[in-house]
Amino acid sequence: MSNAQDPLVIFTPSGKRARVPAGTSVLDAARSMGVDLDSVCGGRGICSKCQVQPAYGDHSKHGITSSETALSEFNAVEERYDRVRGLKAGRRLGCQACIQGDVVLDVPPESQVHKQVVRKAATTRHIEMDPATRLYYVEVEPANMHTPTGDWERTQAALAAQWDIEKVSLALPMLSKLQAALISGEDKATLAIHTPREGAAQVIGVWAGFAEPALYGLAVDLGSTTIAAHLTDLVTGEVVASGGVMNPQIRFGEDLMSRVSYAMMNEGGAGEMTQAVREAMNELAVELSKEAEITTSDIYEAVFVMNPVMHHLLLGLDPTPLGMAPFALATNAALDLPAQDIGLNFADQAQVYILPLIAGHVGADAAAVALSEAPQNVDPLTLIVDVGTNAEILLGNKSRVLACSSPTGPAFEGAQISSGQRAAPGAIERVEIDPITKEPRFKVIGCDLWSDDPEFATQTAVSGVSGICGSGIIEAVAEMRIAGLVDANGLIGSAEATGTERLRPSGRTHSYLLHDGSVDGGSVIEVTQGDIRAIQLAKSALYAGARLLMDEFGTDEVERVVLAGAFGAHISPKHAMVLGMIPDCPLEHVTSAGNAAGTGAQIALLNVAARREVEALVHQITKVETAIEPKFQEHFVNANGIPHATAPFAQLRTVVDLPNPDFNAGGGGGRPRRRSRRS
Ligand code: FES
Repeated sequence: MSNAQDPLVIFTPSGKRARVPAGTSVLDAARSMGVDLDSVCGGRGICSKCQVQPAYGDHSKHGITSSETALSEFNAVEERYDRVRGLKAGRRLGCQACIQGDVVLDVPPESQVHKQVVRKAATTRHIEMDPATRLYYVEVEPANMHTPTGDWERTQAALAAQWDIEKVSLALPMLSKLQAALISGEDKATLAIHTPREGAAQVIGVWAGFAEPALYGLAVDLGSTTIAAHLTDLVTGEVVASGGVMNPQIRFGEDLMSRVSYAMMNEGGAGEMTQAVREAMNELAVELSKEAEITTSDIYEAVFVMNPVMHHLLLGLDPTPLGMAPFALATNAALDLPAQDIGLNFADQAQVYILPLIAGHVGADAAAVALSEAPQNVDPLTLIVDVGTNAEILLGNKSRVLACSSPTGPAFEGAQISSGQRAAPGAIERVEIDPITKEPRFKVIGCDLWSDDPEFATQTAVSGVSGICGSGIIEAVAEMRIAGLVDANGLIGSAEATGTERLRPSGRTHSYLLHDGSVDGGSVIEVTQGDIRAIQLAKSALYAGARLLMDEFGTDEVERVVLAGAFGAHISPKHAMVLGMIPDCPLEHVTSAGNAAGTGAQIALLNVAARREVEALVHQITKVETAIEPKFQEHFVNANGIPHATAPFAQLRTVVDLPNPDFNAGGGGGRPRRRSRRS
């Protein structure tokens, strides 16, 4: 109980204030007031997680004046800590400093348990740290002949008494580690405890004495074409390495259904694909660990988001039921399982969390997008398209959310394109075509200059101009449409019809020469009729999926469009709309969200409550099955036009002038209507 004479303590940034009896430690005061102040050692002056910064002087805002005697003097524990490890100027250890007078205490971000982690993504995002795996330091009763209890039983008693942690389990390999740790640590140990859900705590790491081991987690977006992962420090929330590899299952089939067919047609085929993806995961983990100067045995947790076929193949489940109605999943629930069960060579007891699936064709990646973009929390009707080999599409607002997936194929990732390549230095990622001269200029990944800049050749001397990636081909086709080189049906015109020698015959069709580096032994990059067809198929599938959700929602318009996906951040909204990848909408309402599925995986890795949130969310999302919906085909055919065969795209046409050539009958149609040069 406190009274009016007790010192008043105010914590910032939370602003929490209360009177506490003089002599209360700052850590105890923080705990009693519900202030977020960290501690791993339980107040023993070892971990330094409880640091606070007192602010002395006149605080008119808070109505108090605080003198330097408001906290007890620097004690021997703090002096020792300062001498050995160093304390920042003015900082105090909250477990040692006691409150003696009115004081304002700032809790710096590194001392907050639930600190906010800022992601440098396309959209800056805050994640509150609340990981499933945490470190706890315990001082265990020494063994006693007269009251014989085991090491583990005494450790459990210490966890209950010192941390209020009851009911913890421990696997056999950890028991032998505990035994050794208590001997060498003189009955003191640091434990990594993984609590994926209430009542399921287990020890997954043990170190002698007080330790600050490397504790890392991996957030993985396992896509059909690429596997992207972020290696993250589970204590600070910092991403220490990010990277991706191609999914090696591509050799068994480029899209999901061809992989399911491979499993159907070849005995042991599913097993081969399982092995391939697990090997790739382990290799990626090694690569990222090297980059971060840790080892894979420092990885204690991983979170996976993936579509249902990837999900089944990673888990070693038969994917063939996903190839035909009723698209039965082996399980759609979220899973907590040991990493070893799926062949991951991380820390011995590392754990994996797999986000729940929404339906037979709508995966955990869509669930992760919903977690990250939260359409269920906004008023405007929002369409989110996560562009990939298999597109995840969500449409909704506060009233309800619908989801589907659509088989776009790998064209948007640069595959099936004559000069296509994955996004890497040297790949063309931006394209402009002058509507008067029909001359192109472009940018490649790794260089900020346009190709018509005199310095471009020097700056790209190392990477060269090697091919065209997903965002590059989208811009190239859209620019060709704006410049009148491609008609609304997707046909490329001839040199004669368009007035540019860059259009060259190629069999019975034409190609547009984007870059010719052959004089210097470099590449020749063209956009062929086949490329346009591949993009048309991909974008039609995307649009048809979105349109199906709009039908289901009972609307012809959306208010916002969010482009997500590994290259979502790089797609230009204008070009995506000229192509008709997305429905008509004011261009300023089209935004990019970066890799939303990957962000969802990171949120789930760092915040255990978010796992419960997404598990509840998947039950609220209405899934629409594109594969059996007859209207899908009709929408798909109409969406083949650029931007669309029947939808007027009136909003787009207010900002982009689309000429109307017709290159039917071998590209010999009339010249396109001239238009003024764009700014
Ligand atoms: S709580 Fe660990 S040093 Fe204060």
